[in-house]
Amino acid sequence: MSDSPVSMHSPGNEPAGEAANAADPAQQKQMEQAYAQMKRKMSMAEIGRKIKHKIMVLSGKGGVGKSTVSTGLAVALAQQGHKVGILDIDITGPNVPKMMGLDGRKLHVEGGRIYPAQGHLGVKVISMAFLLEDEDTPVVWRGPIKLGAIQQFIGDVEWGELDYLIIDFPPGTSDEPLTVAQSLPDIDGMVIVTTPQDVALLDSRKSISFASSLKVPVLGVVENMSGYTIHGKGTPGSTVEIAAPAGRTLSATCDEEGKFSITLDIFKKGGGQSTAEEFGVPFLGALPFDPGFVRGGDDGVHRIVSEPEGASAIAFAKVVSSVQSQLAQGTSSSLEII
Ligand SMILES: Nc1ncnc2c1ncn2[C@@H]1O[C@H](COP(=O)(O)OP(=O)(O)OP(=O)(O)O)[C@@H](O)[C@H]1O
Ligand SMILES: [Mg+2]
Repeated sequence: MSDSPVSMHSPGNEPAGEAANAADPAQQKQMEQAYAQMKRKMSMAEIGRKIKHKIMVLSGKGGVGKSTVSTGLAVALAQQGHKVGILDIDITGPNVPKMMGLDGRKLHVEGGRIYPAQGHLGVKVISMAFLLEDEDTPVVWRGPIKLGAIQQFIGDVEWGELDYLIIDFPPGTSDEPLTVAQSLPDIDGMVIVTTPQDVALLDSRKSISFASSLKVPVLGVVENMSGYTIHGKGTPGSTVEIAAPAGRTLSATCDEEGKFSITLDIFKKGGGQSTAEEFGVPFLGALPFDPGFVRGGDDGVHRIVSEPEGASAIAFAKVVSSVQSQLAQGTSSSLEII
């Protein structure tokens, strides 16, 4: 550490004579590391004070939409005028920068501090992706190195004052959430993302149990990819029928302008709510299946930004308001450790 004063004589820690002066390089290194660690801890405490709310986004299963929910929450909160940051902890597959229009960015480091990039609506973003030389080369960091990198990220980032920090994780109940929960003081809680299928729900049950072992409150469950709504036009007053999955037929009546809409529950429905009820944690809302999220991920314009009045933006606004009411109640759905 070049800025570490332990490489010099520090008052109160004066070496006793010549022998100590010539500390061996291994000892010197250890002291420097200890100093850096202490500085980082103080910095984490400071970060803890400057950020009003810290929310973890987790799921037991991969690909259910954690990053979509993390970025969506962040953008929806920023739309309300809040100062928001996203910390993307996913080292092996970080895709938050892409969703926030920050693909290809590199970290900005000044005076030993890391400065976040700014995405849609001024949302500050720190991602492991900013460290990658080439996004097609996977990062293979073994346990302690990876966890050290996470601690460094948390301790060395200059977020400034934030109303909300959303922390996006890789799938599963791994070491990353544990490291973050131990490093960052006063985490408000976690949002658990699930899809309506049985397998995803089983995994989200695991996440809820995991939350209790981390001693982080569960703010609630979000059901993602909940239903796909198709819109169309027919003869006013007529009935339209469509063939739905599982051999079912769905029907709707066209209104006076001939418009109709039908919602297909592609992956069933209501599983998020029943999981929440089973564990006695809040259900925060459902987000529709919207191909616009996939397009947004590809072209770097978030769905809420490209269609601020659309069904997905409205659904996100509802989830945000549920999260805020949990925060206002100081939710601590204290669960028994299973
Ligand atoms: N509501 C939705 N409607 C349609 N597509 C969606 C929806 N939510 C997410 N997706 C798409 O599903 C894919 C996976 O989403 P996302 O990357 O957010 O999941 P994840 O849980 O973060 O994945 P990982 O576990 O790999 O981190 C992406 O292509 C995303 O655009
Ligand atoms: Mg993700």
